Amino acid sequence: MTDSYEIIDHEFDVVVVGAGGAGLRAGFGCAEKGLKTAIISKVFPTRSHTVAAQGGISAALGNMGEDSWQFHMYDTVKGSDWLGDQDAIEYMCREAIPAIIELEHYGVPFSRTAAGKIYQRAFGGMTTHFGEGTAQRTCAAADRTGHAILHTLYTQALKHQAQFFIEYFALDLIMDDDGTCLGVMAWDLDTGKLHRFRAHQTILATGGYGRAYFSCTSAHTCTGDGNAMVLRAGIPLQDMEFTQFHPTGIYGAGCLITEGVRGEGGYLTNSEGERFMERYAPSAKDLASRDVVSRSMTVEIREGRGVGEGKDHIHLNLMHLEPEVIYARLPGIAESARIFAGVDVTKEPIPVLPTVHYNMGGIPTNYKCEVIKPTKKDPNAVVPGLMAIGEAACVSVHGANRLGSNSLLDLVVFGRAAAITAAETVKPSSSHRPMGKDNGTKAIDRLDHYRNVKGDTSTAELRLSMQKTMQDHAAVFRTGDVLNEGVGKINECFAGKADLGIKDRSMVFNTDLVETLELDNLLSQAVASMHSAANREESRGAHAREDFPDRDDKKWMKHTITYVDEKGSTKIEYRPVIMKTLTDEIEPFPPKARVY
Ligand code: FUM
Repeated sequence: MTDSYEIIDHEFDVVVVGAGGAGLRAGFGCAEKGLKTAIISKVFPTRSHTVAAQGGISAALGNMGEDSWQFHMYDTVKGSDWLGDQDAIEYMCREAIPAIIELEHYGVPFSRTAAGKIYQRAFGGMTTHFGEGTAQRTCAAADRTGHAILHTLYTQALKHQAQFFIEYFALDLIMDDDGTCLGVMAWDLDTGKLHRFRAHQTILATGGYGRAYFSCTSAHTCTGDGNAMVLRAGIPLQDMEFTQFHPTGIYGAGCLITEGVRGEGGYLTNSEGERFMERYAPSAKDLASRDVVSRSMTVEIREGRGVGEGKDHIHLNLMHLEPEVIYARLPGIAESARIFAGVDVTKEPIPVLPTVHYNMGGIPTNYKCEVIKPTKKDPNAVVPGLMAIGEAACVSVHGANRLGSNSLLDLVVFGRAAAITAAETVKPSSSHRPMGKDNGTKAIDRLDHYRNVKGDTSTAELRLSMQKTMQDHAAVFRTGDVLNEGVGKINECFAGKADLGIKDRSMVFNTDLVETLELDNLLSQAVASMHSAANREESRGAHAREDFPDRDDKKWMKHTITYVDEKGSTKIEYRPVIMKTLTDEIEPFPPKARVY
């Protein structure tokens, strides 16, 4: 089949796949350092999902009170429930401060204090003095921080002349026989032509896979395409059982209502009008970490104290806030609540429900963004030529639970780190080695396969089965029985790929083939998530097992490493958590009970 396709060849020093916050930061960073850089994106860059990030980006600037990167590091380690790698967490929290100043200089229109400094709000799990006070650490551009950052980074990428390939869908990595990544194959969605990108470093910045679930805050494009390419290349994913449920998705619609609402003084109530978070997290209350708040809301609903006709959701109140505060700092959520819930936030509470929001798991990397494929000899062995950043990656700075506003930070800090690593490892314009057995043929065969499938199941039907299975069997609370049933069902969904087809060829849309490729990508990640969750017999961060309610550091303080092959068979191994810090300026934080 391959011979019948014309392939357009490109040679770059670096190819970045994905043009969200991480991809753009890495891409223009590489270009700035004199590397010939391509950025491939399946959507127009400023439509990437970073645009939807609302509440802000964390950094211990101390503009609104005392703060330090050491406090930030402690909060992040605790938020991760001691599954985060402490060298990477130190790197992120320390680099946060120059990264924000850099963003300010690039032109991000941050909200300001009366004194003209960057405005910072409180967010969940962010404290001072190692858990004592409340830190105002989240730098905000009203409640449209992601939008402001994404547009600024895009202009920087244009300025530094990174070369864009827009509406190109990345199909698969090109891997050499010795396991080195040589580049990526992509499909131009406009012309239908195939492109082969050779690169000394391929950087995956393809985002999360929220769309494996039925209800999520993620865009329809969040299908984790890079994660799936990595699995097909025989490289594992890490910690895929850890899925974050954001406490405040709009009931029924799933759209995000920022944690910044609670940071500005909003609070949750049950059907009795009770501020129930005071019972679950007496100190942090509504600003406990997300896993804690989502579990508390779920318990309230289960115990019959949910609101609404079905007693199946919770109220988020901000009617007591001054309208000026709402219109100045939370204009976007006032609009979303009106459009998606028919609510005037100055008069009524917003109906909310925990909603899938973020994947802590992804492609294992070190803090330099190099992809890791553990071997028996070396749990930290690097895959040459391949890096990953942003939500696609598992560095792991978020461990078992990410703190709100650490995601935008992760994007810019590790986007920048990837550019530094690329500059250290790539000699500009050096020649490319010949390709091995795979010169892109595998990618083309897969495209060809899905172009011609003739089964009886539509992409939409199979996608719905997968999404319902994930929603029902890998939810906020989990048990062995529910997970094991989920394993059986998700395996069936994976096998269902064999029966995919288009029943009525007169009803083919031009997005059908892309959606089928995305579904294929989602299925392997859903399998990895469900199997990894069934295997982990403890509760840690976002993975809450009712049959194993405690964290078990002796047995389970380790990263899950999951392989999924083309038949959907899984292999699960484990890899140690990095407890060492990067410098001797700070000692690692030893595990302790996690209370808020
Ligand atoms: O609630 C929010 O604004 C989301 C922020 C985040 O996920 O970091």
